[in-house]
Amino acid sequence: MTLFKEKSNLIKKIRYIKEQNLTIGLVPTMGSLHKGHLSLVERSLVENDFTVVSIFINPTQFNDKEDLVNYPKNLIKDCAFLEGISDDIIIFAPEISDIYDKNISVKKFDFHGLDRFMEGVYRKGHFQGVATVVSLLFEIVKPNQAYFGEKDYQQLKIIQQIVVQYRIPVNIIGCKTIREDDGLALSSRNTKLGPYNRNIASKIFELLNYCRIHFDSMNLDEITNHVNIFFEKISEIELEYF
Ligand code: PAF
Repeated sequence: MTLFKEKSNLIKKIRYIKEQNLTIGLVPTMGSLHKGHLSLVERSLVENDFTVVSIFINPTQFNDKEDLVNYPKNLIKDCAFLEGISDDIIIFAPEISDIYDKNISVKKFDFHGLDRFMEGVYRKGHFQGVATVVSLLFEIVKPNQAYFGEKDYQQLKIIQQIVVQYRIPVNIIGCKTIREDDGLALSSRNTKLGPYNRNIASKIFELLNYCRIHFDSMNLDEITNHVNIFFEKISEIELEYF
């Protein structure tokens, strides 16, 4: 595993790899790595000669300042997590100024409506920020393939669509969600949940499973009603979308 903190040094390394006709997989992350990230890294290592793991808390995708300030960060722990797995891993952990220069702003992407639902409604500008940083990472790393979790399904669909639309030469690979034993999807933000909310989070997984199992036997109104009743019983949380 090698760590690059500066874009200019990484670009030299990428040039060298490309000159040798070797392939690069990119796993974009915001750090606080866990087994979900590891599954993407492991797949990329199998399918490419080198795997670049970017660790960058991207300010432009946070619509909530408090969420940005509180986002868990620990580069030393992240490096230790990947240490010893393979010499073919390159960690890229740049400063904000190295990615955005002096202009911390988003490009304007047309997602053809994919951002009009779900997270797009509740996290204004979030996907423009994600698409901006991912496209900047593609320009720097020039990966043959890039790996994203199905956990962030809307993000995956948006990235798949922009690479086609803007003719970015990279193969986007969606990877299965990795879960805790009780079904909660692994996520860096899970560490922010106290025991009570952690328990509710796993109940939401049970609820989604219920909907999946009964999808053919119940109609949509019945399923929606079941979901609404579940949320009415828990006063601490509010349903945004189903
Ligand atoms: O899924 C994430 O962790 C982020 O949205 C990504 C893709 C690394 C962009 O900052």
